[in-house]
Amino acid sequence: MAKKDIDWSQLGFGYIKTDKRYVSNFKDGKWDSGALTDDDTIALNECACVFQYAQTVFEGLKAYTTEDGRIVTFRIDLNGERMEESAKRLEMPEFPKDRFVDAVIQTVRANADFVPPFGSGATLYVRPFMFGSNPVIGVKPADEYQFRIFTTPVGPYFKGGVKPITVKISDFDRSAPRGTGDIKAGLNYAMSLHAIVTAHKEGFAENIYLDSATRTKIEETGGANIIFIDTDGNMVTPLSNSILPSVTRRSLMTVAEDYLGIKVIHREITFEEVKSGAFTECGLCGTAAVISPVGCINDHGNEIRFASGMDQMGPVITKLYDTLTGIQMGRIEAPKGWIFEI
Ligand code: PLP
Ligand code: COI
Repeated sequence: MAKKDIDWSQLGFGYIKTDKRYVSNFKDGKWDSGALTDDDTIALNECACVFQYAQTVFEGLKAYTTEDGRIVTFRIDLNGERMEESAKRLEMPEFPKDRFVDAVIQTVRANADFVPPFGSGATLYVRPFMFGSNPVIGVKPADEYQFRIFTTPVGPYFKGGVKPITVKISDFDRSAPRGTGDIKAGLNYAMSLHAIVTAHKEGFAENIYLDSATRTKIEETGGANIIFIDTDGNMVTPLSNSILPSVTRRSLMTVAEDYLGIKVIHREITFEEVKSGAFTECGLCGTAAVISPVGCINDHGNEIRFASGMDQMGPVITKLYDTLTGIQMGRIEAPKGWIFEI
């Protein structure tokens, strides 16, 4: 088998159909044994719960080629756990974490020719998702579900790769204090679409959402958690029960403390602090975003500029980035259990 003829270094963050996907169906109270298929289409009744009441949750993870040519994935057990939590919150049956891990490995292996080569700057993005599939018209959960995983080779999420971006403070809210912001449900992204289109039209790469109860605290962006570096060189990251528990952010907290000796502070962060210059560096972190440096936050025309500037990643975030990607790409030894070989 040979790698596909794709110009890996030119890839953006888009969908390219790959050879195989994994499908398992839930019916009569149980999941079937699941299988790989060539069929990239789904035929559903018009009244399927996913169409009427958006009963769908998803995950995002990546497969990497290491320098010595192995294919690996990163902490996919945490994605499996998070998907269980997401499913419970939307009254969906859990797809067991162990089966999730096995299904991801099977799907990546079946699409090994689409895993971009080491050093190309691209990776294979893996999208597990699950939805209510039978007709439902009264507001209630479905009885039947499909769990599916497809893959697509991707390049950087933000144009320009690791060049600092400018983000805006959104006038819209992303999630409510006792809502669904802490799970990976499609509904959180549906309601962010108008906000992201608005931000892009205005020339910004992303939105920073404030907490919807008081609009005084920093939450996260539409597709990534946020990290700051303070004037003492500590990594500071928002604590909130209405943001997604990012696998990347949780990993960076360990990388900072255990690999780099950087103190990590996980606490509520007010927007006032950010405006007052408490932080010298800022980055967005997530599977898709990796760590994307933020050079400037635009608050209704007022610019909050970080000392790291608009030309390159700041020095502390650079260390975090190099260590995290080093672990993911097999250059640096990972903590036990973080890497899954395909
Ligand atoms: N926050 C949101 C809203 C996201 O969509 C994502 C992407 O998955 C993240 C944070 C980052 O999470 P992770 O690091 O697990 O990919
Ligand atoms: C991911 O990072 O995997 C996500 O799901 C974020 C999405 C905005 C692409």
